[in-house]
Amino acid sequence: MEASDVEHELVNVLFTEKQIHARLDELAEQIAADYEGKDLLIVGILRGAAMVMVDLARALPRHLEMDWMAISSYGSGTKSSGVVRILKDLDTDITGRHVLIVDEIIDTGLTLSWLVNSLGSRNAASVEICTLLRKPEALTMPVEPRYVGWDIPNEFVVGYGLDYRQRYRNLRDIATLSPDVYS
Ligand code: PRP
Repeated sequence: MEASDVEHELVNVLFTEKQIHARLDELAEQIAADYEGKDLLIVGILRGAAMVMVDLARALPRHLEMDWMAISSYGSGTKSSGVVRILKDLDTDITGRHVLIVDEIIDTGLTLSWLVNSLGSRNAASVEICTLLRKPEALTMPVEPRYVGWDIPNEFVVGYGLDYRQRYRNLRDIATLSPDVYS
């Protein structure tokens, strides 16, 4: 889906598909250099990370393995007070492996700070994070991604995997959603 297909539902496009691919190419270059000579397992967090995962994996000029997790965070009111639980675990034993978690956004940081701790207890050789977007103003939990595509303001963004009520994930660009849609 193109931004022009749902133009009246968006405020503006933050990053075009072309800009996203260019940034992922840069991150892939960095990752390839940092993990040179090491095996690499990239782990996508369903469902939002599907697009980043697929495009980042293809941008990496080296062998790697891919696995997926699904995680749910429940909150009473806000996500930051929530409980995190694994809905789908890894199929891979990560003992001694270099794990790179791939996600499309860090918002409060709850999901990934919990996940890094959880995977850290499985004796991986290393656990790092690559996120396409981060909202520094929304962060309430300590989480330090090694790779960040862009920092963005605390606005409701959709597209390229990011949803509002499960819609907009197939939008090619990343855009700010119009308040008319969610208010
Ligand atoms: C999104 C995103 C992160 C999480 C970030 O997933 O993929 O995993 O939220 O938010 P946090 O930093 O506040 O924890 P979401 O729970 O919306 O599920 P989805 O990937 O299926 O859209």
